Amino acid sequence: MLDELREIERQGLSAIEGAAEAETLEAARIQFLGRNGALADAIGRIGAVSIEERPAAGKLANQVKQRLHGAFDEKQSAFDRLATEEEGAGIDPTLPGRAAWRGGVHPVTAVIDEICDIFRELGFSRVRGPEVETERYNFTALNIPLDHPAADEHDSFYLENRHVLRTHTSPMQIRTMETFQPPVRVVVPGMCYRRDPYDRSHAPAFEQIEGLAVDETIDFIEFRSSIQYFVRRFFGPGRRTRFRPSYFPFTEPSAEVDVSCGICDGSGCPTCKETGWLEIMGSGMVHPAVFRAVGYDPERYTGYAFGMGSGRIAMVRHGIPDIRLLYEGDMAFLSQFST
Ligand code: PHE
Repeated sequence: MLDELREIERQGLSAIEGAAEAETLEAARIQFLGRNGALADAIGRIGAVSIEERPAAGKLANQVKQRLHGAFDEKQSAFDRLATEEEGAGIDPTLPGRAAWRGGVHPVTAVIDEICDIFRELGFSRVRGPEVETERYNFTALNIPLDHPAADEHDSFYLENRHVLRTHTSPMQIRTMETFQPPVRVVVPGMCYRRDPYDRSHAPAFEQIEGLAVDETIDFIEFRSSIQYFVRRFFGPGRRTRFRPSYFPFTEPSAEVDVSCGICDGSGCPTCKETGWLEIMGSGMVHPAVFRAVGYDPERYTGYAFGMGSGRIAMVRHGIPDIRLLYEGDMAFLSQFST
């Protein structure tokens, strides 16, 4: 029996140590250390050994078992090390990791956030409103009669029951004033819809930001200086602001606001169509008829409102020539803006 055990040890060790790959090693383990392997078989017969020889046989069997296990473990970890080294071949562990791209903020979204942040410093809250409106909010409460061209089926998207996709964010002037008493200061970013062509300067679905301020002492000076402050903060301290007389049914007086062209600084170039100015928003002092529509006393309250196209502002800021670039999801274009 002792000889048999020594023979098992000799053969087992040579099989284990000589294994050239993981499969051969596993086969050797099964042959010598497995449940039905050579060693288990010998140990099973120790009971039949004579009583004098038995303790020595048991002791040796344990030693053989330990040695074979030891040899197997050693060989196994050598194979493991080899596998990891092969996997890592050609890798420079000192290189910085490659960060996964987690998406970026769309240039129009970035402009919206920046504009709302500047107005927040002036005391304006950021609110949102529905994109499906009634004719009252979109038109009549804003002093736009239903026979005005803006209310025409040719210019606006009508849904069932005379509901309309809002053509501007101005309905939120009405909703805000119906909900809150003065003083009121809000900015309202959101989508608007018009039956416009889809070309370099128009899109039938586009972003606007509305602004509304109402209080007891707001005059044209506060209106003009707030807009001027915004223009300098957003476009830079060197940019000039121009107010051009205009007309909106819901403001009186009304003004288009222009900012001096950032490319030519006002001397005229193709970007500003040789005018030196870029139009950025419609605006004006809130019309008394609008205050009456929401139950505000027009003798007590005054205010100003403005509306700008966020996509257009993004174009002015980045010198983007075609508004469609902002709406087509071309990653080669958009990834220029993600930081
Ligand atoms: N709602 C106007 C437009 O869409 C912009 C505007 C808003 C003008 C507020 C004056 C005051 O053109």
